Amino acid sequence: MLNPSDFIQESIEGMKNTIGDKKAIIALSGGVDSSVSSVLASKAIGDNLVAVFVDHGLVREGEAEYVEKTFQDRLNLISVDASEEFLDRLEGVSDPEEKRKIIGEVFINVFERVAEDVGAEYLVQGTIAPDWIESQGNIKSHHNLALPHGLVLEIVEPIRELYKDEVRIVGSELGLPDEIINRQPFPGPGLAVRIVGPITPEKIEICRKANAIVEEEVKKEGIEDSLWQYFAVLTNTRVTGVKGDIRDYGYLVVLRMVESLDAMTAHVPELPWPMIKAISQRITAEIPEVTHVSLSVSDKPPSTIEFA
Ligand code: XMP
Repeated sequence: MLNPSDFIQESIEGMKNTIGDKKAIIALSGGVDSSVSSVLASKAIGDNLVAVFVDHGLVREGEAEYVEKTFQDRLNLISVDASEEFLDRLEGVSDPEEKRKIIGEVFINVFERVAEDVGAEYLVQGTIAPDWIESQGNIKSHHNLALPHGLVLEIVEPIRELYKDEVRIVGSELGLPDEIINRQPFPGPGLAVRIVGPITPEKIEICRKANAIVEEEVKKEGIEDSLWQYFAVLTNTRVTGVKGDIRDYGYLVVLRMVESLDAMTAHVPELPWPMIKAISQRITAEIPEVTHVSLSVSDKPPSTIEFA
């Protein structure tokens, strides 16, 4: 059983020894793994750790402000709005793997520019045990990352041996807010994997609003801790509807809410029907472009949790 205060002390000592008075950088997403890693590293090397929040334009409603508000007093934080760069490169792209590839490439380019400006020699990453155990390709604990334009960073992974529940315990011990510790996972490529077909600013806005409504209503119902993830997907399907007396032709939004332990498998539980109806009514009333809401009832396998 992990003793969180011993772990924190050893982790801080370890990073002090490894990084010394050099500079390090971390990509802070606002998820629990990168948040815990950032705070640990900053306790070890202070402002020589620069935490970078990259806004790719596909984050949740209010996310950039939330991350800034939560971490500005705890970390040396830089927030980079790179949304135009990401959205330009994603224009007209429908294929999910292509979207992921582009987002990964642009992310690395943006990150390398910041790392160079900062003069970073180390990259702190929030890798946890399942990340490297499952991807059998990368089991080395000491390695470097060569970035595309020549910068090479030495990787430091403070929570590499921990599982998610242990990361949460350490996060609590570090005094991180419960909201960060118990947050549902949000995929790196963000809303790009929840928008089927080409991504446009209009579709991002629809998807973002629908996701905010799902989050609000699930929290209002008080079942957020029992679900692994709960979100809305904007499909590329148009459905006839009627709003007022006028026939309309709008988008189909799918609600996805699953229970899971590790995302390897997942199942859709019986959900409170009034909550589902309230979400559907709010989405169609508050987002004029949506005419139809449906509920996904498929488990993983055979479906994946995300739609793309
Ligand atoms: P799937 O859709 O494969 O998702 O059942 C399993 C878990 O992984 C998350 N996910 C991602 N996370 N980058 C990420 O950082 C990705 O490209 C990505 N795709 C899926 C998903 O949210 C779920 O928790």
